[in-house]
Amino acid sequence: MKNNQPPFETTTLWDFPTQNYGDKPHGDNKYRGVTPALVIWNLLQRYTKEGDLVVDPMCGSGTTIDVAKELRRKVIGYDISPVRPDIIQNDARKIPLDDKSVDMVFIDSPYGDNIKYSNHPNCIGKIPCEDERFYRELEKVVEESYRILKHSKISGWVISDMWRQKKFTPVGFKLYKILCKYFETVDVICLTRHHQTSHTKEWKERAKRYNFYLRGFKYLFIMRKPENI
Ligand SMILES: C[S@@+](CC[C@H](N)C(=O)[O-])C[C@H]1O[C@@H](n2cnc3c(N)ncnc32)[C@H](O)[C@@H]1O
Repeated sequence: MKNNQPPFETTTLWDFPTQNYGDKPHGDNKYRGVTPALVIWNLLQRYTKEGDLVVDPMCGSGTTIDVAKELRRKVIGYDISPVRPDIIQNDARKIPLDDKSVDMVFIDSPYGDNIKYSNHPNCIGKIPCEDERFYRELEKVVEESYRILKHSKISGWVISDMWRQKKFTPVGFKLYKILCKYFETVDVICLTRHHQTSHTKEWKERAKRYNFYLRGFKYLFIMRKPENI
C-alpha cells in the first residue's frame, strides 16, 4: 500500500494476498468464504460516491458494511444467518427495499454446497452447483438485485467454478448467462484465490497424479442495469 492508500486496480487481474487492508478489520478474515476487502473497496471507488446507498444481500461477516462505512457510503447488509447485530436477517430472494432505490449491489454468493455457512434451511449454500435448482434460486437473487437498483447503476458479483468427483461445473459461466438476461456487462475481473484449503502440498500432488486443476481464480462480474430509455 502506497501512502496508506489501497491499490486502485487498473487491469482485469486483481490479486490481493491478504483479506484485509489498513489497520482496522473489514469483515472477519476467519469467516469461511470471506471476500477480500479490496474487491469491495475498488468497486466502491469506481462506481459510487459519498452518500450513495450500497446493499449486500448476502453479506456474511460484514465486509461490505465496514468498507462502505469507511468510505462514507450508506450501506445495508443482509444475510440469511447474520453473525453481527448490524446485519439484518433476510432471504436474498426477497429484499425489503423499494424498486430503483439503490446505487450499488455487491454479492459474493455461495458457489454451491462446498462451504457450510449456517444451519439455516434457506441457505442457498446447501444446494450443490451440479443441481439446476442452484441456478434457479440464484436467478431469484439476480432479479431482486435488478429490481432494487437504480437505472445505470452497478451490480458486482463474485463466484467461482467447481471441480469435484472428476467433474467440472462452469458455475461462473452459468451465472453469467443469467446475469446477461437482466444486465449489460461492464467487465469481467479475474480474482486470484489465496489461502484455499486445497492449496496444500498434498492437493497439488493429487492434482498432478489424477490430472485435474485446483481452482486458482474467481470471477467478479461487473454488470450495469441498463439506462431507462
Ligand atoms: C461467500 S459468503 C459472503 C461473504 C461476505 N461477502 C464476507 O465478506 O464475509 C455467502 C453468504 O451468503 C449467505 N446466504 C446463503 N443463502 C442466503 C440467502 N438465501 N439469503 C441471504 N443470504 C444467504 C450465507 O449465509 C453466506 O454468509
